[in-house]
Amino acid sequence: MVSRLLAFFLIPTALFAQVKDAAARADSVLALMTLEELVGQTNQYNGFWNATGPMPEGNDWLEARVKALKNGLVGSVLNVSGVNEVRALQKVVVEETRLGIPLIFGLDVIHGYRSLSPIPLAEASSWDLEAIEASAHAAALEATSDGINWTFAPMVDISRDPRWGRVMEGAGEDPYLGSRIAEARVRGFQGKDLADPSTLAACLKHFSGYGFPLAGRDYATTDFSAHTLYNWILPPFEAGVRAGAATVMTAFSAANGIPSTLDSAQLWGELRGRMGFDGVVVSDWGSIAETIAHGHAKDLREAARLSLAAGCDVDMESDAYLRYGLELARSNRSDSLRFRESARRILELKFKLGLMDDPYLYCKQKSLPDVRPQAYEMAVKSTVLLKNKGILPLNPSLRVGLTGPFAADKNGVLGNWRVSAKDQSAQSLAEATEASWLFAPSAPHSIGPEAFATELTLNSTDFSGNDRALKALRSQQVLVLAIGEHGYESGEGRSRASLRISLVQQDLVRKAFKTGKPVVLVVYAGRPLILEPWMQDGAAAILWAWQPGSMGGSAVADVLKGLREPYGRLPMTFVRSEGQIPLHYDGFSSGRPGPKTEVFWSHYTDESNTPAFPFGFGLSYTSFDYKNLRVQPSNTGWTATLTLSNTGTRAGSEVVQLYSSRLGNGQLYPTKALKGFQRVTLEPGEVRDVQLILTREALRQRDGLGKSHPFERGTLGITLGPNSSEGLTWTTDLP
Ligand code: BGC
Repeated sequence: MVSRLLAFFLIPTALFAQVKDAAARADSVLALMTLEELVGQTNQYNGFWNATGPMPEGNDWLEARVKALKNGLVGSVLNVSGVNEVRALQKVVVEETRLGIPLIFGLDVIHGYRSLSPIPLAEASSWDLEAIEASAHAAALEATSDGINWTFAPMVDISRDPRWGRVMEGAGEDPYLGSRIAEARVRGFQGKDLADPSTLAACLKHFSGYGFPLAGRDYATTDFSAHTLYNWILPPFEAGVRAGAATVMTAFSAANGIPSTLDSAQLWGELRGRMGFDGVVVSDWGSIAETIAHGHAKDLREAARLSLAAGCDVDMESDAYLRYGLELARSNRSDSLRFRESARRILELKFKLGLMDDPYLYCKQKSLPDVRPQAYEMAVKSTVLLKNKGILPLNPSLRVGLTGPFAADKNGVLGNWRVSAKDQSAQSLAEATEASWLFAPSAPHSIGPEAFATELTLNSTDFSGNDRALKALRSQQVLVLAIGEHGYESGEGRSRASLRISLVQQDLVRKAFKTGKPVVLVVYAGRPLILEPWMQDGAAAILWAWQPGSMGGSAVADVLKGLREPYGRLPMTFVRSEGQIPLHYDGFSSGRPGPKTEVFWSHYTDESNTPAFPFGFGLSYTSFDYKNLRVQPSNTGWTATLTLSNTGTRAGSEVVQLYSSRLGNGQLYPTKALKGFQRVTLEPGEVRDVQLILTREALRQRDGLGKSHPFERGTLGITLGPNSSEGLTWTTDLP
């Protein structure tokens, strides 16, 4: 029997020869498809490990799915990986369906695949776009060599709420930094050519506003102004679209009275219209069906009709398009046109990925690249030094005692998204330092199973291990405590109302302080946690390691020992207390900014307005001096130059950040807004002029209706500094 794939290629061959581009080739395939097959392309199912054997019996649900697959009614799948698994499933559709149209294989390749990089928020701390791009590329190399060709990343949701567990997956609070990182990640995943089998189609998610859930609770309704939407939420999507992202995912959340998956004003108006996105829009997992629970759609049929009309091309796991699509398409011409359009986009992506020319393109056995050196590099670059009273880097002659629940941990430090990394596979800090340091286990942070889909149970009863650890380390001269939160305390579905370090760890820190030895806190976290004031005051140094992934052990050890410098700067404001949330550096001035002696100004009676650590903050092992800011206007903007000197005794690098302020232009602007940055590495004593450019274009702001306005009159301020709270400022009145 001629294979169906062959038959498929024989029929349109003449056509293919004449039309080269993916869109036209997709159209030529569309012409061969039945309405039902066309709807089938929009259907995405999870798993399918059992679809390659005989038809399952006695399980109607699975049986229906396998039947759909074999009838050509599944266009893509997620969570199937491994060359053998992918090849086997691809073979089913290629050989057993009428047209043999191959599947796309999607997966959440978020911070690495098998070897994990630090979590995305940690990577964002590096402010190193090249390194971030390289890290996404490394993830693509590993994932594609296991058959995957579509990643559901990068998440480009801006968020100001550290209670929201998914801040770990984004790039923080700033639209400028977030946009540059979105571009870097898209470039890293997609490379120059999607058909290169070492690249993945990227997916910008979650469109839009998912990072603004009320009270930080995941999946909750979001609330934000149109001004916030246009100037904070959408810019990273726009940047990612400009960088060529092949796909976009809708959000679980609802905003402005409509679930995002049904929001045609956003999907058609903003995404496809204004941004010109012409790729594939995929729903989030089950988010079409969830519009019923939102109380918007009355049933799955309506949910299918509305999300299709809104421009959502792929139904991930709602089974809505497959169940009702054919009926909708038959009864309504516009629905049938929409399905045709969606199927065309999906086919086009399949052509671009090279799958239509070779369905097994990603299944060729390739030698797996060793991307661990890159994961190490990224873990070093993600570390942020928040405090140092001269103890770091640790003098090699000191006897170091290492303890804390994350010191020997090989699991929690991997982070949250680790679909293909093995549990317990991280190199721990204790492993990386064993030879020269003394390690003693403290009381555990959590008890019981650690799994992606279940809540972690914290140890709140047995603290006795803390005393034992400190006793064992009594003759050491300095204590390093590895504390924080587990990878399964942040991420999807893992919001926290309290951002404090757990009680068992507070007990350990308190007792360690009591020893009188200098105590270095190394904090592993998926979000900006809150360190109590006594903890911040008592620590000799605080190094934020985030969840550093597979190679975090040696990366953190090398930074502590001074073999590498702490390199990161905070991509999110660190609050002093939960009541300050959402505190972000680029807020607006109120009409009563204060401070004043009487009470009638914008403040708290029981907390400061300032953060614990500001956006952009991070120390290094040397010190820098900022001097002599001068600014030269040009037709297109301003060139700001300052003289930077390394005043310390070690070589080191500084991230010089440019912030603008805008006053009196008839609109409200944030008191400051990041518009550029540059990393500068200087030898001790070295002095260098650093130049950053601010364009007039970058000063534009959109109003609540989405209209973009230039900044033409008023007072412009340009600040160059080491973070969002410090720096030298130059001002001018325009025009
Ligand atoms: C998440 C998405 C993810 C999808 C597929 C959802 O729960 O919100 O970000 O890509 O699952 O795993």
